[in-house]
Amino acid sequence: CGIVGYVGEKSAQDVVIEGLRRLEYRGYDSAGIALVHEGSILSDKKAGKLANLEKDLAEHPLEASTTGIGHTRWATHGAPTDRNAHPHLGQHDRVAVIHNGIIENFAALRGELEDAGVEMRSDTDTEVVSHLLEAEVEAGADLTVAMQRVCQRLAGAFTLVAVDAADPARVVAARRNSPLVVGLGEGENFLGSDVAAFIEHTREALELGQDQVVTITREGVEVTGFDGSPAEGKHYHVDWDLSAAEKDGHDWFMRKEIFEQPHAVADALLGRHSPGGRLQLDEMRLSEQELRDVDKIILVACGTAFYAGLVAKYAIEHWTRIPCEVELAHEFRYRDPILTQDTLVVAISQSGETADTLMAIRHARAQGSRVLAICNTNGSTIPRESDAVIYTHAGPEIGVASTKGFSTQLVASYLLGLYLAQVRGTMYGDEIRGVVHELEQMPGHIQGILDRKDAIYALAADLADARSVLFLGRHAGFPVALEGALKLKELAYIHAEGFAAGELKHGPIALIEEGLPVFCVVPPQGRDQLHDKMISAIQEIRARGARTLLLAEEDDPAVAPYADSVIYLPRVPVLLQPLVAVVPLQLFACELASRMGHDVDQPRNLAKSVTVE
Ligand code: G6P
Repeated sequence: CGIVGYVGEKSAQDVVIEGLRRLEYRGYDSAGIALVHEGSILSDKKAGKLANLEKDLAEHPLEASTTGIGHTRWATHGAPTDRNAHPHLGQHDRVAVIHNGIIENFAALRGELEDAGVEMRSDTDTEVVSHLLEAEVEAGADLTVAMQRVCQRLAGAFTLVAVDAADPARVVAARRNSPLVVGLGEGENFLGSDVAAFIEHTREALELGQDQVVTITREGVEVTGFDGSPAEGKHYHVDWDLSAAEKDGHDWFMRKEIFEQPHAVADALLGRHSPGGRLQLDEMRLSEQELRDVDKIILVACGTAFYAGLVAKYAIEHWTRIPCEVELAHEFRYRDPILTQDTLVVAISQSGETADTLMAIRHARAQGSRVLAICNTNGSTIPRESDAVIYTHAGPEIGVASTKGFSTQLVASYLLGLYLAQVRGTMYGDEIRGVVHELEQMPGHIQGILDRKDAIYALAADLADARSVLFLGRHAGFPVALEGALKLKELAYIHAEGFAAGELKHGPIALIEEGLPVFCVVPPQGRDQLHDKMISAIQEIRARGARTLLLAEEDDPAVAPYADSVIYLPRVPVLLQPLVAVVPLQLFACELASRMGHDVDQPRNLAKSVTVE
């Protein structure tokens, strides 16, 4: 979501709306604003893009104010409607709050508030915060202290920004694992999800730490911990221009999105298990009995999402013993597939609007099958027409080539597999918790790979004139090879193919010639001979002149003798390896295409969301 806060001498409405426009790429399900004017909160919010809010404000202007907050929403809890748009007000309309993130314990807090007689006005997790804050200020706390106290009661990840009608020259914000920066002006100060929110007004910024509360007034900025202890932000100067600011300093949205993956993967995992350790998928509208009756799963998708489906098959079959098929949605739809009411069709789609995938689920539902969507776009058509949905919570993906969309589709697929295993009793609770624990390490692992980006960029520089690149993988590494090749085709427009390494000797080895670059995803060591068989394949291609570029575990001693280059991966279970192995291939494709002078975010002939069959 996009978040803006302002206090100063200018029109708060103008500053906030302009900031939201710069942040609109972060979410555009709905937009809203709250201003403080003569002891009351003036607020307006509208579903849809920011333009809807602007139109409404033009028709029903608010009184002038110099203190305000605003929000563009990427819906998580609650459909993207006017009612669920932010800000949310306390029951006496004294406090207004905007929020980015997920408050994991909102159900318990909501229950407590309802028992105390508070009437909820939305379906969001955010609204509980406005009531809690309002209760604190009504009991005499100032908004800063109220925010500190309330934050101590919240679980999850959040950025919160609030104003109090009775305290007109103060805006208070808090952050835990969710972005928030302060813009420092003269006689005015700003808050934003990133510096794009205020970069026209100031390039001086303050970076906040985790679990901090910040109070801005015209005169100054005060930072504390959630416990009220004094803290300090880190002052820095922003030297980006406006367009770079929207991309968080990156040259391309795609690169930004690659670097957002630790965060996106963490968000995709957030709130998925109860304190008792049982997995819970709150958008799962299929009963446990319906899930026990499932006798076949068919995963349908297109493009990158299809490759996520291939990984999902390996994991779901292994964990649940339910037969899984994976099929390109457009092939599935027109070949008379066998569907019964016990078939679960899983549609994977970042946008939720891909026409081929939509037609596939319509066909499946018409045959009586149940449909579950794995989707990143709240309220889009595919989840709306499905029986259940697991949202991937990656945030908006702007680059046409999917990156964080893919990695969060993998996470959602793993969660689905584990959930089915839990419901059907095919894994012990401890085993499930073990895999979830491994998944929770993934943001750190991915960050580790991103930190070593320079080696991958150097490889891209080295291979800038390659005309053809091959990718080999086995087991869960096979879909990674396919995805690595797709990224190169999409972005660099060069011939690239992914193969199952075992298939090499049945044909593709004829393509190997002196100097041909071949990426090889080496499976983790010591599992079912997979690793050793891959090493044999690498020897075979190297003997024929291939330039071998290996992705292998960091402590794998077998690879160095056969590698022209090695990109080391952290040690993870084979089924989860795609989550780490895909990252260097994304970086490689992005860098190579960028060096070749191509438009990385909008490759020729492609569209982000293909809404025609
Ligand atoms: C288009 C995009 C691909 C994407 C595919 C599926 O072809 O260019 O990057 O993987 O659609 O999109 P979806 O939104 O359904 O995941």
